[in-house]
Amino acid sequence: MVSLPRLRSRKTVPARTPGELDAMAAAGAVVAAALRTVRAAAVAGVSTKDFDDAAETVIREAGGVPSFLGYHGYPASICSSVNDRVVHGIPSADEKLAPGDLVSVDCGAIIDGWHGDAAVTFGIGSLIPMDEALSAATKQSMEAGIAAMIPGNRLTDVSHAIEQGVRAAERTHGRRFGIVAGYGGHGIGRQMHMDPFLPNEGQPGRGPFLVAGSVLAIEPMLTLGTTKTRILADEWTVVTSDGSRAAHWEHTVAVTEDGPRILTL
Ligand code: MF3
Ligand code: CO
Repeated sequence: MVSLPRLRSRKTVPARTPGELDAMAAAGAVVAAALRTVRAAAVAGVSTKDFDDAAETVIREAGGVPSFLGYHGYPASICSSVNDRVVHGIPSADEKLAPGDLVSVDCGAIIDGWHGDAAVTFGIGSLIPMDEALSAATKQSMEAGIAAMIPGNRLTDVSHAIEQGVRAAERTHGRRFGIVAGYGGHGIGRQMHMDPFLPNEGQPGRGPFLVAGSVLAIEPMLTLGTTKTRILADEWTVVTSDGSRAAHWEHTVAVTEDGPRILTL
């Protein structure tokens, strides 16, 4: 006799053991430390290369390896994306930061073969209220996505929660935000980018199920204008097509029976 194929997929986002989650949290802690160091160095006149050097030093002194360096030929340990740059900006000694600049820094590290990946957005000095709102909305949407990391939810329940977080922020701030099209979060573990791709918007109730131990990198990218982007001649830097400013926040997050566990703290 043969069994009928399942009509509905019970596929799951792969589960890590509690010990593996602790190993990922060790990598995540190094990423968080690198980002804290970058933030502490964020004053007018520093360059994005200074950030890269600071992050790389923190990672290596902790016994880690910067996961971005050499990734598909990427030349640095962080991505630094200023103003209309969305993600994947390459640090440069010539890029000196000025008051009011809106900076997103993304960083990844490997410890004992396990990856952590996180990003923050901050200002150089104080930001104008619009840019402050953009960063706050992006963080709020990430937190909404994190809250959906519970057993029994499906992949696009997280996507939908991120989108709902953006809509809630729009009501708070009384303005629209663009959800960057074509980019999203991802599975992560012994590699930085693993299946599944996590959209930052969409209908709930689709895709693989979350189980205790499932891990996703949750990373909304929002703009003050368009959802469209283009890539600069350096073949990395993603910029908004209308020149509007963008923000990016990211955490690596595990599903547990006790609720979401942020691994990049
Ligand atoms: N960390 C990015 C992400 O969040 C990927 C950066 S890859 C690099 O998925 F090569 F650009 F560094
Ligand atoms: Co990521």
